[in-house]
Amino acid sequence: MPADHLPPASSGGAAPREAAPGEDERLAAFDALIAADQRIEPTDWMPPAYRKALVRQMSQHAHSEIIGMQPEGNWITRAPSLKRKAILMAKVQDEAGHGLYLYSAAETLGTTRDEMLDALHSGKAKYSSIFNYLAPSWADMGSIGWLVDGAAIANQVPLCRASYGPYGRAMVRICKEESFHQRQGFEILLALMNGTDEQRAMAQESVNRWYAPALMMFGPPDGESPNSRQSMAWKIKRFSNDELRQRFVDMIVPQAEILGVTFPDPDLRWNEERGHHDFGELDWDEFHAVLRGNGQANALRLAKRNAAHAEGAWVREAARAYAERTATSERIAS
Ligand SMILES: [Fe+2]
Ligand SMILES: [Fe+2]
Repeated sequence: MPADHLPPASSGGAAPREAAPGEDERLAAFDALIAADQRIEPTDWMPPAYRKALVRQMSQHAHSEIIGMQPEGNWITRAPSLKRKAILMAKVQDEAGHGLYLYSAAETLGTTRDEMLDALHSGKAKYSSIFNYLAPSWADMGSIGWLVDGAAIANQVPLCRASYGPYGRAMVRICKEESFHQRQGFEILLALMNGTDEQRAMAQESVNRWYAPALMMFGPPDGESPNSRQSMAWKIKRFSNDELRQRFVDMIVPQAEILGVTFPDPDLRWNEERGHHDFGELDWDEFHAVLRGNGQANALRLAKRNAAHAEGAWVREAARAYAERTATSERIAS
């Protein structure tokens, strides 16, 4: 019925049907939710660009979690004691869990897990460049936990308040586990620093290699980070790359003093005026080279991930067959 033929609401007839909100109204409702610091949920209308940005960020995040299992998974059999093996195994399993929460959260945006994994396996999707560095020494398990998981925490704690509900909620649990990861890394280095000269040298050598790549995990400087501003306007991201990097440096300097390790940066010093540590310029050419695929382990990580996916085909087939059988027997029972 055309709108102008609807009976007036007071006539006792059917109440007038509300016109479907137009694009402008839906956008205004979305903007109002964001402005009020409310959560956007999967069934809410959202601008296509917001959905796209979330799929990109959440799937990259999920990929980073599962690719990040490789450098540490590689050390489980060689961890120096049963206790260290058990801790490392638990940590690597946590990272698999983080991947699962994040893929599930990203699926609520209408992208399938197969699509996301295809993008990863074909090399189209990115993951955190930090995992394209090799981890040749046991001390690297310490540096990864302390610095890499530490940077992840600095990045992820504000994401617990991300405007997209499923993402923020997944991050709450992930952050709790990340703080255990950081402590176990710190404790590995502390044990080495309390050990022999050789062990201390091993710890320092490892910290020297991971310091700058960990700082680069926050992404390029603010002036060169095109997506950041929009992401902050949508309240997905709450702080800029440079702000988070500064926080991280301020956090790890006193921790390094407790450990007795130094950072390979001659410009690193406390700035009384700013109330923060100054630090040297990072090698952004290296960052972009690793991002383009020319890091130490890009090809290795991708080949291993593809092989692991192929080896897991029987599990996916078995799960599908089981789900079909269960559905059939439920149909027969009803
Ligand atoms: Fe994680
Ligand atoms: Fe972690």
